[in-house]
Amino acid sequence: MTRLLVRDLAQVVTPSGSGAPLRGEALGRVAVLDDAYVLCDEGRIVEVGRMRDLEPLEDVEELDGRGLCALPGLVDCHTHACFAGDRVDEFSLRAAGASYEELHAAGGGILSTVRATRAAGGPALAEAVERHAGWMRSAGTTTFEAKSGYGLDRETELEQLRAIKASGGVPTWLGAHAVPPEFGDADAYLDFALAGVLPEAATIAEAADVFLERGAFDAKQARRYLVACRDAGLALRLHGDQFTECGAIPLAIELAARSVDHLEATRDEGIRAIAASGVTCVLLPASALFLDRPMPPARALVDAGAAVALATDFNPGSAFCESLPLVCSLAATQLKLSPAEALAACTVNAAHVLGRAGTKGRIAPGYDADLVLLDAPDWRYLAYHLGHDHVARIVVGGELR
Ligand code: NIG
Ligand code: FE
Repeated sequence: MTRLLVRDLAQVVTPSGSGAPLRGEALGRVAVLDDAYVLCDEGRIVEVGRMRDLEPLEDVEELDGRGLCALPGLVDCHTHACFAGDRVDEFSLRAAGASYEELHAAGGGILSTVRATRAAGGPALAEAVERHAGWMRSAGTTTFEAKSGYGLDRETELEQLRAIKASGGVPTWLGAHAVPPEFGDADAYLDFALAGVLPEAATIAEAADVFLERGAFDAKQARRYLVACRDAGLALRLHGDQFTECGAIPLAIELAARSVDHLEATRDEGIRAIAASGVTCVLLPASALFLDRPMPPARALVDAGAAVALATDFNPGSAFCESLPLVCSLAATQLKLSPAEALAACTVNAAHVLGRAGTKGRIAPGYDADLVLLDAPDWRYLAYHLGHDHVARIVVGGELR
């Protein structure tokens, strides 16, 4: 593998420090180097510095970075990128006033994507994740997580996890997303999923996730599912407090989960509890926007000292959006996070949620050579330019893409 020198960059920007997750004031501190370079070797970053300090190099591929800003490759720690079909009809119904929860209760919503995903078959699912991963890369994402949860039968859940892994994504088993129609109740479905799917899912996935919400799984069912998944060696995550507070935060703290994701309905007590814990809050403002729901209490969470990450929630129903730059714009305009806080939340803190903070999310020697090069005079255009991605190139593992 040849060395890659990205030179004459207008700015090189990285979240500061070396630990993770970043909280409080540290979340908003970025290091900015003007007129700078990044040298990559064997897939890793080996040097970052000012052009005036660059020593002559031989045997190196050079990329002219004039007019570009280098940021750490973006990390999307919450997507549902493995699905077939779409929900454009439902989208139109919602535009006319139907609610997401009503559509779900009527057998549409998640279950309509389950029908399409079951019918698709493994090769089509693999193709779909590849296509969606391409969309994400175009928006600057170099690492993504993706969940199963649109199969809810043994074969399709495992096909989803394999397709995600084959495309380079980080697979999460969302075996408790909804109760499929062939099961009368959630407990009977969990009997099946934990005995019949978990043993093999645990050999592919890195984490397990549950939708803890009225109309999905309650706290007792979520605990049962998560404890079994933890015992099978999986890290734990929860979809929690999306519409109602149903006990996701206390359960996540009790089980030392990696994250609770959504939190649009979280109030003061939950904010205090999660801020004092090791559980990361994954905020999904594109989902709140897409469903016209209240935004999560991001400012209060950060000010209380919580570890906060940002992600797209990319999926066909509640967030048909794969752009982390758009999420950063929403973070700045709706969540009142600074561009620096937004950047740390979708790089180093998102990497932490995926158990990869030692190798992803910073531009520093020793980290994976994953970069996004923005065609912009100032890195804050990432959030500033609403609905435009500015991504000129990405570098993944030291390779230009
Ligand atoms: O994170 N809330 C549950 N799950 C997803 C939506 C999945 C879907 O609507 O297909 C979410 O919003
Ligand atoms: Fe989600």
